[in-house]
Amino acid sequence: MAPSTIAALLVGAAVSSACTIPTEPLGNNITYPFRAQVQNASRPEVHNKYMNLFEAGGGDRHLFIGPVGVPTYDLTLVAGVINHVPNGVRAVIGGEYSEIDHTTKMFMTGRDDPRAIFQPTYACNPVTDGLQIELRFVTWQGQPEGGHICVRSSFDGSHEFRYSPPGNRLIDVNRECIKVTLVVMPTTDLPPPGTSTTLSTSTTSARPTSTSSSTATSTSTPTGLPTPAPFTDLTDLGFRFVGCAPEERWTDDGAFRTLPDATESSDDMTNQRCVAFCAERGFRYAGTEWRRECWCGDEVAPTRRPATTLESLARCDDGYLCTGDPAQNCGGDAWLSLYERCEEGEACENEVFT
Ligand SMILES: *[C@@H]1O[C@H](CO)[C@@H](O)[C@H](O)[C@H]1NC(C)=O
Ligand SMILES: *[C@@H]1O[C@H](CO)[C@@H](O)[C@H](O)[C@H]1NC(C)=O
Repeated sequence: MAPSTIAALLVGAAVSSACTIPTEPLGNNITYPFRAQVQNASRPEVHNKYMNLFEAGGGDRHLFIGPVGVPTYDLTLVAGVINHVPNGVRAVIGGEYSEIDHTTKMFMTGRDDPRAIFQPTYACNPVTDGLQIELRFVTWQGQPEGGHICVRSSFDGSHEFRYSPPGNRLIDVNRECIKVTLVVMPTTDLPPPGTSTTLSTSTTSARPTSTSSSTATSTSTPTGLPTPAPFTDLTDLGFRFVGCAPEERWTDDGAFRTLPDATESSDDMTNQRCVAFCAERGFRYAGTEWRRECWCGDEVAPTRRPATTLESLARCDDGYLCTGDPAQNCGGDAWLSLYERCEEGEACENEVFT
């Protein structure tokens, strides 16, 4: 039998984990925005769908798999608790206890109900074998450890999120609560039109009025390069362009995000806006990405530093035009247009690419 056939049989017979799981444990905070994906490959009606927020009374948000609810791209994890900062809510468990299957609703609120606590954990996707970060359910605060999150069919073809306690074997045969794995999907895709209501706009007020001009671009387009210029000349603002830096790397040379310390996302993103956002917060580096994101940090790991070849600019000159100014590039798909604050008393000059 050919080795490949044997391998194929093994994959069918056992849980394969050829993907390499990083050894360092993950903390219980995830500061980059993510979507929560639901996985249970034996249940196609829920597999690979996403957690939506659905506005309920009193500012609460209920949690559904579509078609009900608003796709939500900017969840974060704070001390093991799923948060949606723009709406000031976090995931809790409580209410709507069901006698039949002993499950209890999980939803989001700003009130102090006992939280649902998760631990981010690296794992191999059981189907694709890709590395992923799963949110392993730890406990319903104040209750015994264990149990799991499940989704149960609800109105209009949706499924709602529920908690099933440790050791629970009860099943509601009319609407089984399907056990699911929650997976962190870092937001690297643009929300479809009309669903941007959940994106953070809380930092909009930080936008200095002086950053709306894009004249710096047109006056400084390096000759011989395609337009728009692969980068924006911000030396007037005290920032130099350093290059196109890799982002979102599953490596242990630094944070998953190259510039993890502050971020904003906007329909009006420009490189000027981003450096102003980071400068205002005292950060040395600012980077734009995926047309609409701005990331800040004080360090760039040596392995994440951009190259200085002309070719290295391609990943940030690839059609990811800034949402706030189509004459500028704002990074790429998991690549940052990286700018660095110039030191006082030093000439402020962009990197030279050859
Ligand atoms: C997670 O964030 C919380 C609140 O911001 C903080 O108190 C805690 O120390 C952080 N945990 C880790 C492991 O960094
Ligand atoms: C999928 O759901 C079924 C029904 O709840 C459950 O028995 C099974 O363990 C789940 N599979 C995974 C991988 O969670």
